[in-house]
Amino acid sequence: MSSAMPVLKIGMLGCGVVGTQVARLLSHHQQELSMRSGARLVLSKIAVRDLNITRDGVDASLLTTDAKLVVSDPEIDLVIEVMGGIEPARALILTAIANGKSVVTANKALLATHGADLYSAADAQGVDLYYEAAVAGAIPILRPLRESLVGDHVRRVIGIVNGTTNYILTKMDEEGVAFAEALEGAQNLGYAEADPTADIEGFDAAAKAAILAGLAFHTRVTSNDVYRQGITSITSTDVAVAKSMNHVIKLLAIAELTPEDHISVRVHTTLIPRTHPLASVREAYNAVFVEAESAGQLMFYGRGAGGEPTASAILGDVVAVARNVIREALGPRESDYADRAIAPIGEVRTQYLIRLDVADKPGVLASVAQAFANEGVSIQTVRQTGRGLDAELIVVTHGATDLALSSTVKRLSQMDTVRTVESVIRVEGVAQ
Ligand code: HSE
Repeated sequence: MSSAMPVLKIGMLGCGVVGTQVARLLSHHQQELSMRSGARLVLSKIAVRDLNITRDGVDASLLTTDAKLVVSDPEIDLVIEVMGGIEPARALILTAIANGKSVVTANKALLATHGADLYSAADAQGVDLYYEAAVAGAIPILRPLRESLVGDHVRRVIGIVNGTTNYILTKMDEEGVAFAEALEGAQNLGYAEADPTADIEGFDAAAKAAILAGLAFHTRVTSNDVYRQGITSITSTDVAVAKSMNHVIKLLAIAELTPEDHISVRVHTTLIPRTHPLASVREAYNAVFVEAESAGQLMFYGRGAGGEPTASAILGDVVAVARNVIREALGPRESDYADRAIAPIGEVRTQYLIRLDVADKPGVLASVAQAFANEGVSIQTVRQTGRGLDAELIVVTHGATDLALSSTVKRLSQMDTVRTVESVIRVEGVAQ
């Protein structure tokens, strides 16, 4: 390494599973990373909550409990934020930016709520804000959307962006276990947190969907714009029915342009055909499927979480920022010129599968079909399983709006011949 090489000092906020790997890899690959970026990359301070936790491969002399010291140290050029949560991460990042430091963060929740403030602060200061690790861990997906595909027109992004829920749904599909058992398995393996709400209720995926939609459609999109449904209502029967139709149930983050060129952005369980590329994404893996006008269909696949995979994405950003600093250049800014409207969920059209527990007697099917007809929802297929008291109707609709479908379900649930509406699940990826 040339001694004339400029030195770039790095501060890090947080040193948990991801931060430990970032510190280890920065030290382990220091020479190569420096050659690639054109500056000697030196980790000089790490803010942590507890100094006494063992962090293998991390130089303990760099640790401090004073995070403000890291973001205000005039010697530090670049701050990596891997502490997570909204506060104090937001305030610390804004201080770092105000002090002229570029920021690399993995904080999806923060970006999906306060991304616009962070971008404008970075713009005002002429520093970089990079966040590849915030969506789908190691998978390069934000840079392809921000840079590689910026000459194209992206129409749709569909992703499996939460490994915990994909693991749970895979176990339910492949081993026929119930949701609770699959969740316990995910917790034992360390995928799901003790409080799994953010994953199983779709909050984590919704933040990622907002970030993907914003980049794909050049519009500010926040978590609040995302329609969200988790996986907790999926039963073993739903999974078995999907299987019998040669489909699989996945929690998908979907961002697409509607025929009106509005943005539909949503996270919900979805039946997809087993032939769809996303159907083969198993266990805790993530994948993002992009459809662009000229490029056609693209799929990005890999590990969406974990210390080392996430650290890989962070280090990619660190090198990118370092290269910019050396060349006195800046990476891409926020692109929100299109300012598209967010389509209300009621207007969004998809196909649906509806399972109904019904009385098995003449006229029931006709009355059920009439309920769909009354709301203008066209039926694609109807199948009955069981007989007598155990009869179940499985209806798959053609494309219908959420509004029309909700009215149909309300109508069905008020009918004497329908004992219960067992489940309503969206269906994607087949001709409507
Ligand atoms: N908890 C997430 C997952 C990883 O299970 O994929 C962090 O976003």
